[in-house]
Amino acid sequence: MPEQRTALKNVLVTGGAGYIGSHVIYALQKTRRYKVISIDNNHNSLPAALDRVSRLSKSELPEDATELDIASTVIDSHKCDLTQPAQIKSVFEKYGKGGIWGVIHIAAYKAVGESTEVPLTYYANNVGATISLLQIMSDYDCHRIVYSSSATVYGTPPIIPIPETTRLQADSPYGKTKVMAETIIDDLCHADQRWRAISLRYFNPAGAHPSGLIGEDPRGRPGNLLPLLAHMAVGRVKDATLRVFGNDYPTPDGTCVRDYLHIMDLASGHLLALDALASDSKVFDGLDAHFKAYNLGKGKGMSVLQIVEAMRKATGFNYKYEIIGRRRGDVPDLTADPSLAEKELGFKASQDLETMCRDLWNWQTKNPLGYGDI
Ligand code: WQD
Repeated sequence: MPEQRTALKNVLVTGGAGYIGSHVIYALQKTRRYKVISIDNNHNSLPAALDRVSRLSKSELPEDATELDIASTVIDSHKCDLTQPAQIKSVFEKYGKGGIWGVIHIAAYKAVGESTEVPLTYYANNVGATISLLQIMSDYDCHRIVYSSSATVYGTPPIIPIPETTRLQADSPYGKTKVMAETIIDDLCHADQRWRAISLRYFNPAGAHPSGLIGEDPRGRPGNLLPLLAHMAVGRVKDATLRVFGNDYPTPDGTCVRDYLHIMDLASGHLLALDALASDSKVFDGLDAHFKAYNLGKGKGMSVLQIVEAMRKATGFNYKYEIIGRRRGDVPDLTADPSLAEKELGFKASQDLETMCRDLWNWQTKNPLGYGDI
């Protein structure tokens, strides 16, 4: 007998129109258990992404879709600057006290190098805004949050692969904002047992939904390696030569190693975390506060040159590269120990690098100008 649902749970996603947010919203809608509310300042995203997500979810509805199933494909989207508490409050006011079941807080500025140039902007947007959000959540009786953290909280980790017990020692203002936000949420959970929070420490998300309808669409020239390689192959970036930031690291080929995971695997990790915030979950057993952090990674490190080779195979583009100096803020190796999330959340990043590159290229060739060419 299929589960008889009486209503959908309202879940608010901050940064919902972004690369990660849009894929997380798609995953939420696929369960047909949640009604998604998205807030975004569109600093690094376009509202069109959410139209695509809804279109994708609607296309996957079963023949006998119920009213609730159809309602689960509609996104309430609000433009909102999280550094303005009044704007957050006006969104929560629309749903009333207790109207929002939980929040997935993804919105943040995330460029490591940029954060060293404009630290105050990063502290205001990533820390100040998180404090405002938590305060208003509490005012509206919403005490469940999945927080988007990052492997950068580990700085240069003492051991590889990295377990969650590793000391947090971020090297950049960006990474420090993530450590601070985790600490604030942890303290809040210690102060008020109504709070249930899970922090997800992302390693390197990559790829796109296999339909090619949604994907990563950074504004301007991509700073990250994989979208840059895709833009080079599709001709959106005219450089034929990739600048590799250093090959004198203590790694097998001298270039930095990162733990890339498919964006759809990352999105599924958010669903598992959200489910774990339900009252009957065991993840907080034995803890003096309902706060826990998990790595989301594959546990397999790939170097810059290995990524270039994988994208050469996926795109057929003949990448040339030159080795230049190290990039400020880079660390030699960020490879996850993913065993805690696997054990306690049932998380498994199953998709391989070839699939990540194939899905990234499929998105890029179908949308050479990203969402801008709607
Ligand atoms: C990967 C490797 C570069 C561009 C990301 C996110 C950040 C945080 C951590 C979310 C590095 C090298 C890159 C280029 C290069 N994630 N590279 N030439 O640095 O791991 O950061 O993960 O919280 O927000 O951005 O990813 O893709 O920028 O770099 O040689 O033109 O590729 O040095 O070693 P990174 P990346």
